Amino acid sequence: MEKYVYGKPFDTQAIINDIEAVPGQVPIGISAIIDHKFTFDYMMKPDDIVYGLGEQVRGINKRGWEYISWATDEPHHHEDKRSLYSAHNFLIISGEKTFGLFIDYPGYVKFDIGYTRSDLLHIECEADLKLYYFEGEDVLDIVSQFRKAIGKSYIAPKFSFGYGQSRWGYKTKDDFKNVVKQFENHDIPIDLLYMDIDYMQEYEDFTLNEKEFEPDFSEFVNWMKSHKIHLVPIIDAGIKVKDNYFAYEEGKKNNYFCKLKDHKSDFIGAVWPGYSVLPDFLNDEARNWFGLKYENLTKYGIDAFWNDMNEPALFYSKYGIERLNKQLKQFLANDKNEVPYFKLCMDVESVKNSMDDYCRFYHNTKEGWIRHDKVHNLYGYNMTKSAYEAFEKLRPNKRTLMFSRSSYIGMHRYGGIWTGDNKSWWSHLDLVLHQLPALNMAGFLYTGPDLGGFGEDTTPDLLQRFLQIGVFTPLMRNHSAIGTREQEPYQFEQVQEIAQLIRLRYRLIPYLYSEYLKAIENDTLMFKALAFDFKDDPIAKTIEDQLLIGNEIMIAPITTQNATGRTVYLPEPMLCIVCKKGSITQTVMKAGWHYVQYPLNELVFFVRAGKLVPLGPNANHVQDTNLDSIEWLGNGTTYELYSDDGISENAEISITTLKRS
Ligand code: GLC
Repeated sequence: MEKYVYGKPFDTQAIINDIEAVPGQVPIGISAIIDHKFTFDYMMKPDDIVYGLGEQVRGINKRGWEYISWATDEPHHHEDKRSLYSAHNFLIISGEKTFGLFIDYPGYVKFDIGYTRSDLLHIECEADLKLYYFEGEDVLDIVSQFRKAIGKSYIAPKFSFGYGQSRWGYKTKDDFKNVVKQFENHDIPIDLLYMDIDYMQEYEDFTLNEKEFEPDFSEFVNWMKSHKIHLVPIIDAGIKVKDNYFAYEEGKKNNYFCKLKDHKSDFIGAVWPGYSVLPDFLNDEARNWFGLKYENLTKYGIDAFWNDMNEPALFYSKYGIERLNKQLKQFLANDKNEVPYFKLCMDVESVKNSMDDYCRFYHNTKEGWIRHDKVHNLYGYNMTKSAYEAFEKLRPNKRTLMFSRSSYIGMHRYGGIWTGDNKSWWSHLDLVLHQLPALNMAGFLYTGPDLGGFGEDTTPDLLQRFLQIGVFTPLMRNHSAIGTREQEPYQFEQVQEIAQLIRLRYRLIPYLYSEYLKAIENDTLMFKALAFDFKDDPIAKTIEDQLLIGNEIMIAPITTQNATGRTVYLPEPMLCIVCKKGSITQTVMKAGWHYVQYPLNELVFFVRAGKLVPLGPNANHVQDTNLDSIEWLGNGTTYELYSDDGISENAEISITTLKRS
């Protein structure tokens, strides 16, 4: 790893134990600074593949599009988007010359990967950055060097490998209890139940809805505990501007909110609660203060949270609305009494997440006052760090489930992420297959998409196909938006087919958790593109819809409606595992192309030759999963099991070699 410094970079703390900078230029491509703009250009060979950029849209191979690191509240994950919620500026160019780059700049970064010119990789950002350059034997070697440099990934509590049910729209205690009862009545495993913004009083962080949850929240939490359910409340970044609301009053008094240019007045934007202020997470005191507020929930025994709206999302601001008001008046006052419709729509849309607003407020950091746009991508990261640091005090030596919507590399040490507001679309099955390896490269191991799709109406077959991927992702959560078709498994006549998938997940938990710990311990990936392991196989390099999971499994999911099978490429001989109605068959298959049947009501995946996967007995909760009796998948002889107590922060990992008996 080599480090090059340009201008005066802000310390993002993405890299731990930072190294001395090398004078001069990166040994590859051409880097330049003109008018305080940094550019890097590299001529790609026709066969070069570009991996990385974490959560971004499009393929595993990122070539042929332009991506922008700019954390955005973007509910439309269409293929023409350039930015989603996170900024993961790590990429690997793999070809004749294989190397990695990490652009450690927390503002706006453009990655033109063969978009303007098909053979040119062009990166640009403001010239205040650290650039890390990696050389290595292959992709995995570079990934492991990078992961060592950014520090160990957050380890989630083991219970968070259970199935989670979520929906924006559960409001009352009975709504939540009914979900649990339905799961129990249908004998479907579940461990987590998510509480979206309606549990709060008027969307005010760290409060409980007075009518529903005050004053007997303890009783409610205990009822859930007695059913082995962990509640997972959401926490949003914005704090409602409201007199006598403690979080607002305390923060205002102590200057914990982001300020306008005068460094005195609070910046006021708007999110779910209406007009809101933004905690200054880049200020140590403010970060510490906000984190300790989670105590309002941990004191009831809550041990799991998700952090949202922390790009930070801004629906509008006072300033944007003033501008819009003027524009509307002008439109309406014109002689023809006509409104230029498209212009009007654009003006209305432009008040949302506007760059003007992001340039309007400031952070009071150790390095002095800094305008938000220069450090925008660190906001969600530091919100999550704030919670993590507080949990160390509030729940000493206990792991807390924490995942965020927005992130930057470095945040992977404090929590996981979910991939935000996807849609109930078939194309979003492919999207998640493309995101998973890149997210792992960036250090995010605890991750997964909203299964079933968040926006729009799902269909039972789409939910099943989503779950056939979700069986393998550490975060396995079904979440949907208010107003969309309800998508809990029991909403569909196929409930038992859906339940079968969740049951298989629980049988796989000892294996999945072990592979997850391995990936963290050994700074490697839980989800790999085929090309990462089969680097000399020219076909493996082109496969975008199959993934390796851990060291043993390969998945080749169905991502099109009404398909009952698909072609699958096996880079080596494998066993095809078919799980149907509780019984499992294993068939040896030769290397090469196959057409594999994959009906809706089965789970089909592959185990690599000479490998072994332990499948435990059925369990309805993670605490009841075990390997007391094992059904072996694969034709190997041993499996190396990583395990720990699943709950302590500094739990020791034990490594046991399991032998097929
Ligand atoms: C955002 C989140 C989504 C949540 C909603 C309401 O859109 O991404 O998951 O349900 O806000 O809180």
